[in-house]
Amino acid sequence: MHLEEDILLQPFTTFHIGGPARFFVRVETTAELLEALAFAKEKNLPLFILGGGSNVLIAEEGFPGLVIKIELRGISFTDRGEKVEAIVAAGEVWDVFVEKVVAEGFFGIENLSGIPGTVGGTPIQNVGAYGAEVGQIIQWVEAVDTKSGELVTLSNGDCHFSYRSSFFKSDEGRRFIITRVCFSLGKKGIPNLSYRDVREFFAAEKNPNPSLTEVRDAILAIRARKFPDLTKVGTAGSFFKNPIVTAEQLEPVLGLFPDLPHTLLPSGEVKIALGGLLDRLGWKGIREGDTGVFPNQELVLVNYGGAKAGDIVGLASRISADVKKKTGITIAPEIIFVGEPH
Ligand code: EPU
Repeated sequence: MHLEEDILLQPFTTFHIGGPARFFVRVETTAELLEALAFAKEKNLPLFILGGGSNVLIAEEGFPGLVIKIELRGISFTDRGEKVEAIVAAGEVWDVFVEKVVAEGFFGIENLSGIPGTVGGTPIQNVGAYGAEVGQIIQWVEAVDTKSGELVTLSNGDCHFSYRSSFFKSDEGRRFIITRVCFSLGKKGIPNLSYRDVREFFAAEKNPNPSLTEVRDAILAIRARKFPDLTKVGTAGSFFKNPIVTAEQLEPVLGLFPDLPHTLLPSGEVKIALGGLLDRLGWKGIREGDTGVFPNQELVLVNYGGAKAGDIVGLASRISADVKKKTGITIAPEIIFVGEPH
């Protein structure tokens, strides 16, 4: 185990924000992970698990414990009749995996192309985009239980996947460190064009039957229009979740904005397109110093260069307060905070 001290976390995050980790270790094997956990236990250090750093906002004061960067690697495909099982180590880069799956001709994750981060992070927030969610195709998740030190396997049901959430986000689930994920992919399939942007893309192309590669390319093109270039602008993607409200809560909002996009869920609740709401409340493209709301996608808060964690949190709080005051709706962040920003 190669333990480092006082390592700046900023370069490991897509927000390009974050102070130092007191201790920092990269783990390439489960044995190294267990060794790192034993060290943290012995020294009584808090733990933070870092994957691709694409869904976190880390304060400038950094993290006073041990940061474990998951670098477990390996992808294997096993034939299971009509399906193919892909077992992928947590440290693999998600989009490298997606690219490989599409190149092999397997269906199921092409609509999740272009999402930054690593495979191990995907079950935690049940990553989803363009009409697909990883929870729909995950068979099992292997994880280390930091309480017992044992390697355990959680079935899809154990993971309690829901919109942008899972068991791993719960108080009980936080103690598990994901090491491998098993995805069930289709050898055959039909392109999932259920999402409006995807449907419109292929309607414009006059291509009602796109191939897997064409779907991946379309998703990458749609994302390039909506999201900032991570090499130029810092961001963690959607900062907020789309709020899920009751019909009663929606009514006054529709009174204000009759054409606000929203989706009726099977539960009878309604998911509001927060991007559309923020647009109507005048937040589109707002810039305050080095922070702002990305002009092409309003759920995306950005760091234009020198933003501090506190600047991002400040902007997010003003947005939340404005939404609450004008519509009565409480919105929640979807990213993970490390440390107290100021
Ligand atoms: N909209 C606007 N203005 C905006 C943004 C959206 O009017 O600035 C409207 C759109 O016209 C559309 C609706 O809102 O009717 C939905 O917009 P979009 O397709 O951009 O999706 P989203 O709900 O804003 C979610 C995910 C994204 C994911 C996209 C595509 C969440 C929190 N975000 O955004 O995920 O890529 O759908 O499926 O659910 C992420 O989680 O980091 C992320 C980027």
